[in-house]
Amino acid sequence: MKHPGKFITFEGGEGAGKSTQAELLAKRLTDKGIEVVTTREPGGTPGAELVRYLLKTGMLEPLGPFTETIMVSAARDDHLNEVIRPALEDGKWVISDRFADSTRAYQGSASGVEPEIINALERIVVGDDQPDLTLLLDLPLETGLDRAKSRAGEEGVEDDRFDRQDKNFHKNLREAFHDIAEQNPDRVVVVDAGRLKRSVSSSVWKVVQDRLLS
Ligand SMILES: Nc1ncnc2c1ncn2[C@@H]1O[C@H](COP(=O)(O)OP(=O)(O)OP(=O)(O)O)[C@@H](O)[C@H]1O
Ligand SMILES: [Mg+2]
Repeated sequence: MKHPGKFITFEGGEGAGKSTQAELLAKRLTDKGIEVVTTREPGGTPGAELVRYLLKTGMLEPLGPFTETIMVSAARDDHLNEVIRPALEDGKWVISDRFADSTRAYQGSASGVEPEIINALERIVVGDDQPDLTLLLDLPLETGLDRAKSRAGEEGVEDDRFDRQDKNFHKNLREAFHDIAEQNPDRVVVVDAGRLKRSVSSSVWKVVQDRLLS
């Protein structure tokens, strides 16, 4: 991917700290004078945010995981064309809170959509625009789910059907993300997210400096 900008994604299970760390990294990069676009998936455009609402509230659930995969891929296509690619072409750095790995883990491994379908849709929608760096925030299931639960009911916190999935679903998710990291060592770096926010943020910053700023 030869855009002048850099594309960074945060991945991981519920409550891992993706939104928190994406914000902290954006601040560090901005302080270094780098123009940063912070965004999220599903979402980032009006149409993609609608898909996010339908997905998180469970309205898509009756249609099944295959349809969910198609919908989040369509949302990603719009997000890439309207936000991510133009920003990278401008030389800005893009930080996305979730991206294609989440579809591979949530709709693929944890919900049973065949890898061939996931691969084909990713090839069509993402093509060569894979992230330069993916930070996989990893922590024990319970810690993440407790954090997500403690956040539930806070002002502006969206209803999330994935928070209500059983332990086995979240266990499959964590394994799926680990597999993605093992298969993509050049792109994906696993960060222990079970520590204090500032400790996690320091580890994230060290990885970004080593991989993208040196
Ligand atoms: N290192 C940390 N230690 C303790 N609490 C944390 C830490 N990081 C984030 N939190 C808190 O845990 C909750 C979940 O964090 P956050 O929203 O960043 O997670 P997330 O990965 O974006 O979750 P989701 O996948 O549900 O969007 C928030 O209330 C946040 O303040
Ligand atoms: Mg979040």
